[in-house]
Amino acid sequence: MKLPFTKPKGMKDNFGREAEFFLKLYNLLYDFSIKHGFKYIETPLVENEKVFTTSLGQTSDVVEKEMFYLKTDERKEKYVLRPENTAPIMRVYLEEGLYSEPQPLLFFYVGKMYRKENPQRGRLREFTQWGLEIIGSENAFADFYIIFTGYKFLKEILNFTEIKVKLNSLGCEKCRPKYKKKLTSYYRRYKNKICHDCQRRLKENPLRLLDCKNAICQPYKRNAPNILDSLCKFCSLHFQEIISYLDKTEINYELDSTLVRGFDYYERTVFEYFLQEDNLALGGGGRYDLGKVWVNVSTPAVGLALGLERLKLILEEKGIELKYSPKPDIFVAYVGEELKIRAFQIIENLRNEGLNVSFNFFKQSLSHQLEYANKIGVKYVIIVAFEELSKNSVILKDFENGTQETISISKLVNEIKNRLNNKNV
Ligand code: HAM
Repeated sequence: MKLPFTKPKGMKDNFGREAEFFLKLYNLLYDFSIKHGFKYIETPLVENEKVFTTSLGQTSDVVEKEMFYLKTDERKEKYVLRPENTAPIMRVYLEEGLYSEPQPLLFFYVGKMYRKENPQRGRLREFTQWGLEIIGSENAFADFYIIFTGYKFLKEILNFTEIKVKLNSLGCEKCRPKYKKKLTSYYRRYKNKICHDCQRRLKENPLRLLDCKNAICQPYKRNAPNILDSLCKFCSLHFQEIISYLDKTEINYELDSTLVRGFDYYERTVFEYFLQEDNLALGGGGRYDLGKVWVNVSTPAVGLALGLERLKLILEEKGIELKYSPKPDIFVAYVGEELKIRAFQIIENLRNEGLNVSFNFFKQSLSHQLEYANKIGVKYVIIVAFEELSKNSVILKDFENGTQETISISKLVNEIKNRLNNKNV
C-alpha cells in the first residue's frame, strides 16, 4: 500500500524469512562468541561525535562524509548514530574503569551501525556488525586469536570455502612516520599523474594512497615502497610472531602491503577476510590503541567486525543454507491427558537444569508426538506414562540406537547429562 512516507534510503526491514535468518545468525554468533571466551557488551546507538572524529581520522570517509548527525537541543555537543563500535567500546572501557579488572578483556557485540554511503551491493546505510575486541594485551597471540576466531566462524559455522585473509602491518608511531616520508617522496614524483583523490591524500593522509582503486594510480601503487620493509624491530617481531601462529593452522592468508584499512586508529596488524573471487570484504580489523590517543595511557587492543548483511548476501549468492538448528536434545511426550501437566513440570525441571527440551502438547496421541520428535531429530525421548509414574519413574528412549528403559525421575537429569556428555566427546 502506498503511504505518504517510506523507509529511509539504504535501510531494510526484516520480516518473515529474512527476520528468521537474522535470528538464526544472531543465535549462532552469541553461542560461538561465548564459547570462544568473549563477553557480551552493549553500547548506545548514539555517541558524541568526538568518539569518532578523534579516532577514525578527520580524513576518513566515515568522518568526512558518512556520519548521521542528530538534531539535539544540547548546543555544545554534537551526537551521531554510531558508524562503528570499536571506539565506543574503548570509550566504555576507559570511562567505566574496566582496566582495573583482570586483563585482557574479551568482548563481543552484535549491533546496528550507520554510515551515509551510496547504497550498492553489500553497502547499506544501516547494517549489522558482529564484532570481537580483545582489550589490554599487546601479545601477538591476541591478534592471532582474533584472526583465527573470525576465520573459524566463516569456515565452520557458515561453511564458506575459499576464504582468504589479507594481512599487513602498519607499524607503530616510531616506524610509521619514517615510512610515510618515504612514501610521500616516492609519490611526489608522480603528483601530476595520480588521480585527484590521491593528490589530496598525498597532502592529508599519504597511507591512504595505497588504498586507491583508480586504474590510473595502479602502476604507481605497485612500485611504491613496501611498508613491511620499514617496520622497526619490535613491529617486525610482533608481525613475525602472528605469522608463525598462522602457519601452524590451515588459515589461508596472504601478505598485502597495500592493505591500510579506512580508519586512522589502526597500528601494527591489519587484516581483512575475502572470498577468493570477490573483492567485497566480509570483515576486517586490526590493532589499535585509543587509550594512548585519548588520555595518553597506552591500552593495546585488537579486534574485528564482520558485516552480517554481507554474509547473508554471499550465502544467498552461493546457495548456502544457514545451518542452525538449536536442536533440542530431549523430547518429552505424555500418555493420557491427565498427565500433561506432570509432563510439563518434568520439562521445566529439565530446562532449569540447562537442558534443551522440546515437546508437542498440541497433538494428543503418543504416536503423533513421537512422529514429531522424530521429525525434529532429538536424541532422547522421555515418555511420561501412568504405570511408570506411579513408581516415580519415566521411560527414557534413546532415539539414535532405538533402546528404551525405565528410569527414576530423581536420576533423570544426571543420567541424561552423562549420556549427552558421552555422545558429544
Ligand atoms: P570496517 O571494515 O569499517 O571495520 O567494517 C567491518 C565490516 O562491516 C566490513 O568488512 C563489512 O562487512 C561491514 N560493513 C562496513 N560498512 C558497511 C556498509 N555500509 N554496509 C554493509 N556492511 C558494511 C570496522 O567497523 C571496525 N570497527 C572493525 C574493527 C574492530 N577493528 C578493530 N576492531
